[in-house]
Amino acid sequence: MSTEKRKQEHIERALEKESQYSKRNLFERIHFIHNALPEINFDDIDLSVNAFGKKFDMPLMIIGMTGGYSKAKEINIELAKNAELFNIPFGVGSQRAMIENPNLKETYDVKKEADVFLVGNIGAYQLKVYSREKIEELVKSIEANALAIHLNPLQEIVQPEGDRDWSNILMKIHEVVDYLDVPVIIKETGAGISREVVFKLSRIGVKWIDVSGSGGTSWSKIEYMRGGKIKGFEEWGIPTALSILMCRDMANIIASGGIRSGIDGAKAIALGASLFGAAKPFLDAHYSGKTKEKIEEWRDQLKTVLFLTGNKNIEEFKKNKPIYVDPYIERIATQLGLRI
Ligand code: FNR
Repeated sequence: MSTEKRKQEHIERALEKESQYSKRNLFERIHFIHNALPEINFDDIDLSVNAFGKKFDMPLMIIGMTGGYSKAKEINIELAKNAELFNIPFGVGSQRAMIENPNLKETYDVKKEADVFLVGNIGAYQLKVYSREKIEELVKSIEANALAIHLNPLQEIVQPEGDRDWSNILMKIHEVVDYLDVPVIIKETGAGISREVVFKLSRIGVKWIDVSGSGGTSWSKIEYMRGGKIKGFEEWGIPTALSILMCRDMANIIASGGIRSGIDGAKAIALGASLFGAAKPFLDAHYSGKTKEKIEEWRDQLKTVLFLTGNKNIEEFKKNKPIYVDPYIERIATQLGLRI
């Protein structure tokens, strides 16, 4: 099957409810401490954050989904324009299709339409296949401000046409981190990143991790819908909340995987993430013509959490960490030697 056709199928499948994990990301077991006397003016609350050496109006990012076929261009441009409107980062999906067919570049090339902080995207496995020149070209040709390299061994192994030899990929990532002159984000695609993996990545100089944990889009479920083999991995993965706890002291964290509101996003930030991100909610928003409203809703929810916990900006909110967790999370953290 061509990469183009596969990309289209992924979008169609991801739009279905069955593409989501049944198990949650554990954010439901994290709660805020209500402040009945906030003593701040709601309208003075400042959600802005610094990331990648740039200031953004809120700690939200629309993370990589698509590119490589005609409809993808429309999706990327519409989402990127909204990201520009709210001054938040935006990521395209895997650019492998444009390496194979340079005519497809325009489906990722949103900078002509939107002045946005743009994150390029390529699979870690592809680093074994393509030369340094090709990877540099991916970034340069769309004027990306950062490159996300995705780890998706779960998806590949259950995918009928998936890549199976995952040896020597860390070394390839190391090379890219060394030669690329934009920040590299290592991201999962919904199964989470463990402490051991983030340790290896931080040692080779990776500064940004998008944990993309389980609890949202399940790539094994999507691949099973497409005829994937080795059944039984529908719910495999590290829940997002745990993955943040595992990684947060070794890198700057982007928290994604089942973030479905600004309240979830606030929990991610309170746990120590620098930014929170989502994919599927913005695909749904695009298709319902409500991307702007979705971002506004999440912004207002985040602002309301800050208000109701008595914090006037993100830095203060992170410092005060007005949360408590169910004993269930505490027990897992103890088992894994993690601090809450
Ligand atoms: C994705 N995701 C993804 N990730 C990536 O790094 N490169 C890619 O090309 C894609 N493609 C893609 C397509 C579609 C339709 C979806 C929904 C997702 C994974 C995505 O960035 C994210 O890690 C997971 O989807 C988990 O986030 P949500 O969907 O639970 O918010």
